Amino acid sequence: MTAVSERPAASSRTALSNGIALEDIVKPEEGLISRRIFSDPEIYELEQERIFAKGWFFVGHESEIPEPGDLITRSVGTDPGILARDDEGVVRVFLNSCRHRGMRVCRTDRENTSFLRCPYHGWAYKNTGELVTAAAENHYGPGELDKDDLGLIPVAQLGTHRGLIFATWNPAAPPLREYLGNMAYYLDIIFNRTGGVKVLGTPQIWDVETSWKFATDNFTDNFHVFSAHHSLVELGMLPNDPDFAGHGTMVVAEEGHVLHLTPGAPNDDYASMGLPHALREKFPEHLDADQVLMAANTAYSAGTVWPNFHWLQLMSSGTLGQKDAPFLNLRMEVPISPTRTRMWSWLLIDSDADPEYTKTSYETYVRTFGPGGIYDQDDMENWEDCTRASLGPAARQHTLHHKMGLGRPVDESWPGPGTAYRGSYGEMTQRSWYAAWLRSMTTGWPDRRSAGAAR
Ligand code: FES
Ligand code: FE
Repeated sequence: MTAVSERPAASSRTALSNGIALEDIVKPEEGLISRRIFSDPEIYELEQERIFAKGWFFVGHESEIPEPGDLITRSVGTDPGILARDDEGVVRVFLNSCRHRGMRVCRTDRENTSFLRCPYHGWAYKNTGELVTAAAENHYGPGELDKDDLGLIPVAQLGTHRGLIFATWNPAAPPLREYLGNMAYYLDIIFNRTGGVKVLGTPQIWDVETSWKFATDNFTDNFHVFSAHHSLVELGMLPNDPDFAGHGTMVVAEEGHVLHLTPGAPNDDYASMGLPHALREKFPEHLDADQVLMAANTAYSAGTVWPNFHWLQLMSSGTLGQKDAPFLNLRMEVPISPTRTRMWSWLLIDSDADPEYTKTSYETYVRTFGPGGIYDQDDMENWEDCTRASLGPAARQHTLHHKMGLGRPVDESWPGPGTAYRGSYGEMTQRSWYAAWLRSMTTGWPDRRSAGAAR
């Protein structure tokens, strides 16, 4: 185990109050990450200012608010938010907090309404955010209530890509499409392969006693599967081959976004993400030739739009004796304390999917992922124990090990954008994630772009 050099920070470094510099305890280029960052309250507060107040965050999918008046409650970063489609069909995102005393204006998960009335004193807002009526208005004197200036607080920017809605509180953030950079190429393979996907049902939401970063770290980690989910191997629901998910390509895209595209067994069932042939035939209508080939050679894929949005495209058995079936899962972690995280999980289905495939995909997803899923239950236990075992004064002086693939050569033959590496077992995706974390925490965001340090 490698001890962290916790020496006092030089003045140009990002020093914590104990004098330790983040740059000295988080060294992604060496694959060394301090355990301290998974529990330290001061680091957590810095994350709120430098990541969650500044970055782009997933808030929902367009298919979740199809009708005028539809409204759902979400986190926007770590703030409570409302995602709404107003009566004119315009998508809007607000802080879910009354301008009077700060009460949550919307207390349901979803509804369809033109107006929201605050339960505390009754201020009422239109679904455009405009304050329509306040309480006891005749008791305000001249100039005491400027309703034009007291609408719900909107996000600074809103953007969509292939139906995925992202928002930021930061007016200085680059536009979403610029932030996604070359990751958009891969998002298109997953979310536009057949012309569109839609959310099925409602997201599952639950809390886990873990640092949000242990969950994030896990999502492009293929080599935990054979060990962490070994009970599924023993039951015959995963291949009895420690390398079964290691034969693909890992890609480090721009801005800390990362992914892998991994083939499964070499037969038609595992080609084209296992989708029914009627859906595979649509790929060339929506993807270019290289993207079609990548999609055709993929059974499993996971990706992260930095920092906390993920997809999982998996083929899995959902129960004993069931043939592997595909599903597309969206994931997001929202920290609610240094060591507690709210997990969000959605199932998406191709818009043109037939009912039988839709049913199989849904059943496989709910049996495998989400709070009752056989995979997630294994993963959650690991994240919670990683957090607990890194909390103590001795543990936090040491690093965690992220060195797999440090010397692996770049795959220059990869036809897609980004930096590609052969093999889906490696920690280049995690190192890239922590490098983006360190840039955001030290040089600030989006200033790191102008400093030329983003790539
Ligand atoms: Fe909303 Fe008073 S807090 S009306
Ligand atoms: Fe797992």
